[in-house]
Amino acid sequence: MKIGVIGTGSVSKAISGKLAELAHEVTVGARSADSESLEAFAGIDGITTGSFADAAAAGELLFSVVAGDHTIEALEMAGEDALAGKTVIDTSNRLDTSREFALRSTASVDNSTAIQIQERFPEAHIVKSLNTMTNSVMIDPSTVPGDHVVFVSGEDAGAKDQTKLILAEFGWRDAQIVDLGGIASAAAPEMLMPLWMNLVIARGGFDAGPFNFAVNSA
Ligand SMILES: NC(=O)c1ccc[n+]([C@@H]2O[C@H](COP(=O)([O-])OP(=O)(O)OC[C@H]3O[C@@H](n4cnc5c(N)ncnc54)[C@H](OP(=O)(O)O)[C@@H]3O)[C@@H](O)[C@H]2O)c1
Repeated sequence: MKIGVIGTGSVSKAISGKLAELAHEVTVGARSADSESLEAFAGIDGITTGSFADAAAAGELLFSVVAGDHTIEALEMAGEDALAGKTVIDTSNRLDTSREFALRSTASVDNSTAIQIQERFPEAHIVKSLNTMTNSVMIDPSTVPGDHVVFVSGEDAGAKDQTKLILAEFGWRDAQIVDLGGIASAAAPEMLMPLWMNLVIARGGFDAGPFNFAVNSA
């Protein structure tokens, strides 16, 4: 499948590399097609690079992997028409990075990237997913033992089904994929970020290795 990845950070590197390994045709986009941030993707089989607009135009399905506070700006650069009718998987968190290490989350029910981008781009099918874990776990859930989960939120059933198929390709089993409901439910996993950050600190920092949330029931 042709997949556009809007963004060039560590999540893009993980997801684009995995998608290319899975034989998808990936276009990774930056603000500008000659951005230095694209150098890390040069020469990787199955990946071509360009602008946000190039990635959005090329992809039948899109990933939006940009800082939460810049996502609307990035998707506006990608182009509203290029998003229309497509599944857009949003992995973002809203973080205030001005404080050393603290990575303070600013997500709330009134400040959810996924809800805001769905409102701004009504013709796109926004699906919130994968934002509640580090990028290595997103693309290989077997790195954490147990039935830990990935959440999915979105209005369009077809877009969520497409997302679940990609998640399955990444290695997520059905039992690990928790469909939270419509796009309004995306605020909840976005608001998990403070807990996630506190867990990193309580476990002794990033060197303690990856972890993830589980939902156990009777
Ligand atoms: N890192 C993780 O493991 C992890 C885990 C869960 C969720 N997340 C979330 O996933 C998202 C991606 O994270 P990341 O660390 O891979 O990338 P990031 O550093 O948050 O974002 C990188 C992208 O943001 C673009 N960008 C920066 N300023 C911009 C602006 N003013 N307007 C438009 N675009 C702008 C950059 O464009 P250029 O390429 O042009 O520089 C780049 O492509 C974030 O929301 C993050 O919170 C990350």
